[in-house]
Amino acid sequence: MTDAPATALRSAGTRLPVSALDPFDRDVLEDPLPLQAALRDAGPLVYLSTHDVYAMARYEQVYAALRDWQSFESGGGVGLSNFRTGKPWRSPSILLEADPPYHDAPRRVLAGLLGPHTQRRLRDKWRAAAADLVDELLAGHTGNSAEFDAVASLAEAFPLRAFPDAVGIPDSGRENLLPFSDFLFNAFGPRNDLVALGAPRARELSAWVNSHCQREALTEDGFGAQIWAAADRGELTPEQAPLVVRSLFAAGVDTTVHGLAALLHALATHPAQWQRLRAEPRLVRVAFDEAVRWASPVQTFFRTATGDIRVAGGVVPAGAKVLLLLGAANRDPRRWDAPDAFDLSRDPSGHLGFGFGLHQCVGQHIARLEAECLLTALAERVETIELAGPTRRRPNNTLRAWDSVPIRVRLA
Ligand code: HEM
Repeated sequence: MTDAPATALRSAGTRLPVSALDPFDRDVLEDPLPLQAALRDAGPLVYLSTHDVYAMARYEQVYAALRDWQSFESGGGVGLSNFRTGKPWRSPSILLEADPPYHDAPRRVLAGLLGPHTQRRLRDKWRAAAADLVDELLAGHTGNSAEFDAVASLAEAFPLRAFPDAVGIPDSGRENLLPFSDFLFNAFGPRNDLVALGAPRARELSAWVNSHCQREALTEDGFGAQIWAAADRGELTPEQAPLVVRSLFAAGVDTTVHGLAALLHALATHPAQWQRLRAEPRLVRVAFDEAVRWASPVQTFFRTATGDIRVAGGVVPAGAKVLLLLGAANRDPRRWDAPDAFDLSRDPSGHLGFGFGLHQCVGQHIARLEAECLLTALAERVETIELAGPTRRRPNNTLRAWDSVPIRVRLA
């Protein structure tokens, strides 16, 4: 990676490495690993001149900043734009973009709803749904092998079948969910061509999502209805309820799609790990968390400094935006042995792919369950899995996403 790192900037009397690298450059979005390494090597805290922000790429500092919500707030927005100085493009999330005490009640309600007991309730149903999906897919092929796109046929198809059912929305219109969250995750970055590309449909897609957050639009037995029931019990206000439902649509679909795509890509390119998984099916959970560490479907989020905050000898000035590179922390050799290896022998717990601290992903049990169900169905039916053609990334300002991962499988 070409950059002139480590020139000096005076920040509250301290000197910081300065980098002109742009985390949102199209080539970087295509392959962020060289930038991640360059920023980790530049120092624990780096000033990014392209966007006038501070960045942390090492595990130790990213982890500490995620924990320290008092110093690094989310209420100023978790994207590049600063809600303290400019107007947000939509009403902010009352989870992701809120701090205590405002964050407390919505978080409590969702954590109660999406906890381990929900996994137990949904597991049989989702196991059957995943088995049906894989059977349908393989039935369409003759002989003992099949070729299909792992993104469209599995990574998108399964969450789009299982998750909106669990939230409680009708079949029609579900195709809006992916472009909606694709735009949303792009909008956390700068106003670049990716944002411009999605902008023409943003209003229409937001209106569709907002209308499906209303009580009348939701079935009586899903997460959506349970969120409204929490409002009836006084645990949320009636104004908060639709915004909590919205956070499920915003954060719960695309993230999982690209988590599953990352997992399938990893297994298709690491045949020995696939064989290991087939021999030891209990490793499905490890496989998913290792894929989330290795590929980090959510690459970055911002925070805003609430004062002059000292970080490893440097200072983030009050009001500055701070980029936390979750993906870089998940590959930091200071924290992980052989961080670039996708390896089911490792214990990936402690990775920051689901964040950490107060805002740590409240839907992670749901994402893990989806992965467990889909992967189990596949492992029971498929002996080998390999790439069947060139892969294609889907560039996004926040997500590390796949557009296409063609695979060939040999049936068991
Ligand atoms: C928060 C990643 C799946 C709902 C987060 C955060 C990350 C993340 C990194 C922390 C944000 C921050 O610190 O600012 C992921 C990944 C997923 C996934 C990689 C899948 C592989 C899901 C699912 C749901 C969900 C399935 C819903 C069921 C949320 C919500 C928050 C969140 C509501 C905000 C929590 C808060 O601010 O308290 N997620 N997520 N996520 N996630 Fe996930």
